[in-house]
Amino acid sequence: MKELVEDIGILDEAHQPCEVVKTTENSHTGQKRKLYIESYGCQMNFSDSEIVASILQKTGFDTTSRAEEADVIFLNTCSIREKAEQTVRNRLTQLNGLKKQKPELTVGILGCMAERLKTQWLDEEKIVDLVAGPDAYRDLPQLIQQVDEGDKAVNTFLSREETYGDITPVRLNSNGVTAFISIMRGCDNMCSFCVVPFTRGRERSRDPHSIVAEARDLFTKGYREVTLLGQNVDSYKWSPEENNKARLEKKEPTSVVTFAQLLEQVALVHPDLRVRFSTSHPKDITDDVLHTMARHENICKYIHLPVQSGNSRILELMNRGYSREWYLGKVARIREILGDDCGLSSDMITGFCSETEAEHQETLSLMDMVKYDFAYMFYYSERPGTLAAKKLSDDVTEDIKKRRLQEIINKQTRHSLERYQRDVGKVEKVLIEGDSRRSADFWQGRTSSNKVVVFAKGNEQKGTYVQVRIDRCTGATLFGQAVQSI
Ligand code: SAH
Ligand code: SF4
Ligand code: F3S
Repeated sequence: MKELVEDIGILDEAHQPCEVVKTTENSHTGQKRKLYIESYGCQMNFSDSEIVASILQKTGFDTTSRAEEADVIFLNTCSIREKAEQTVRNRLTQLNGLKKQKPELTVGILGCMAERLKTQWLDEEKIVDLVAGPDAYRDLPQLIQQVDEGDKAVNTFLSREETYGDITPVRLNSNGVTAFISIMRGCDNMCSFCVVPFTRGRERSRDPHSIVAEARDLFTKGYREVTLLGQNVDSYKWSPEENNKARLEKKEPTSVVTFAQLLEQVALVHPDLRVRFSTSHPKDITDDVLHTMARHENICKYIHLPVQSGNSRILELMNRGYSREWYLGKVARIREILGDDCGLSSDMITGFCSETEAEHQETLSLMDMVKYDFAYMFYYSERPGTLAAKKLSDDVTEDIKKRRLQEIINKQTRHSLERYQRDVGKVEKVLIEGDSRRSADFWQGRTSSNKVVVFAKGNEQKGTYVQVRIDRCTGATLFGQAVQSI
């Protein structure tokens, strides 16, 4: 994933828009069978693939980077937009050839499309032997055994408690410096356009002890940055005595760990461990979180705060739970507590049901007011089963959706450049993540505000911090020179 950074300016997020990540490492622990996983969609899926690899390693599987030598191929799929689903369908067609050559090959669908389409897979795609939803991964060894015995196997049960908290993920595609830690699963928000609540189920938080232990373990192994992951990290809430049950029964537990407290606990693991988090929901991010960020130098000054639209009527139709004014108020609060240098990014959707030209203009004007460092931008894609699909008409034409999308992309491109230019001339603390993609003579790392920095190698080491004087930039990368290792 890091490879993408310089080329197309994508800063890796909790919800990378449908890039594919493959198992690129071969683990050779002398096991008999080989597992190949391709993950699509967001960081949650990439993280889940590491849990799947861990579960299967215990039952006789090594991972492989080559689909051709695999005994089991899993596609960990995404349903967020129609295009994401089409990508997976096309990939299955390609895999048909492989299955013909090797009929004993097991092909399984995991993730959000597995959950959305369930047993439908078995009728629609002959190649599919196994379907497992996001909460069914502990069952994979049994499901594979079922396929070995000649049956098809499906488990799409959604749990109210599963967090895989006790499973140590096998780090796939790792640079050995940065890692993701899943802190919660599911989403209770029901944004009207979004399929995630249906594919990932109810929101539940993971035991903070297991999160802190995972962060500590990563630090001991040489990792220097963790990103705490959830669809809405600000609603993280865990109560020690009753776990999540009290919440589900709507009883107020006597003491809870909030996201701000969790963030602090992870920050305290070590001052040299950087902490990031994603995604924040504008309606839920608290002053407490912002003050915690301000208190700890190692909590990165960067917030992904998806706005989706700059118009209050559209936001209401989207069921986002905030208005344009509320959102702008949050941004002002962030600037007040964390200053102008705090990185801010967003997600935006153009052409949502009934969006008028004037309403689209409000998204553009909000962008002018906020000036995001970066944004993921999409045009609306109706998803079956969502509130919008049931109640609203997808009535903006594709031409208009695409034209509006181009307008926000053009604006964002200018803003990104402006935001990156602000850093030229400054000295920034950079965590070195590895070689720059273009040349092994250069390092690549990131600033606290999540901007990618490329600079010529001296005798620094990967996984260490260095002060870099920034001397030029594009709208996606800062270039500079190391002035001092830290
Ligand atoms: N939990 C995160 C978002 C997860 S999905 C949050 O609340 O911000 C990532 C992004 O995909 C969303 O922020 C949204 O911008 C986009 N998205 C979701 N559903 C979509 C749809 N039906 N059409 C187009 N974009 C969509
Ligand atoms: Fe989807 Fe909204 Fe939940 Fe994000 S907060 S995952 S957009 S329902
Ligand atoms: Fe993620 Fe796609 Fe599912 S964005 S949660 S993999 S629908």
